[in-house]
Amino acid sequence: MNRTIVIGSDHGGFNLKQVFIKALKDWGYPVEDEGPDCLDSCDYPLFAARVSEKIKADDDKLGVLICGTGQGMAMTANRMGVRSALCTNEFHARMAREHNDARILCMGERVTGQGLALGILKAFLETKFGGERHQRRIDLIDTVAK
Ligand code: RB5
Repeated sequence: MNRTIVIGSDHGGFNLKQVFIKALKDWGYPVEDEGPDCLDSCDYPLFAARVSEKIKADDDKLGVLICGTGQGMAMTANRMGVRSALCTNEFHARMAREHNDARILCMGERVTGQGLALGILKAFLETKFGGERHQRRIDLIDTVAK
């Protein structure tokens, strides 16, 4: 069974969110869409918070957050204590999972074209965390941030 993907955006990421939802369903992933449900201007922290809360509550879920640049989403989700990675290429996405065990993929619709964006999404979903020394380093993030 594929992991459930919790997805959210603001108006700047809405169109790419719709593309991602279709692709995720085609690939067989259960999807929980945390909004928005239209292109009206809205505030990205509210949607980043909704997705982050769901990811915090369930270790099996992964998240996707899309705004114009991906920056505001990444800032908010990391501040909420969820390791989140702004990715602009597939190597970024693979390493974010393998080395950093990122739980939320952040993307910028105004930065990354749809074809590349879908490749980044696939790479993020299909890469497993490497564990071992990477686990020690992730644990250290919490230690030094206290
Ligand atoms: C909205 O105009 C834009 O600021 C937002 O989508 C995002 O890029 C913020 O980081």
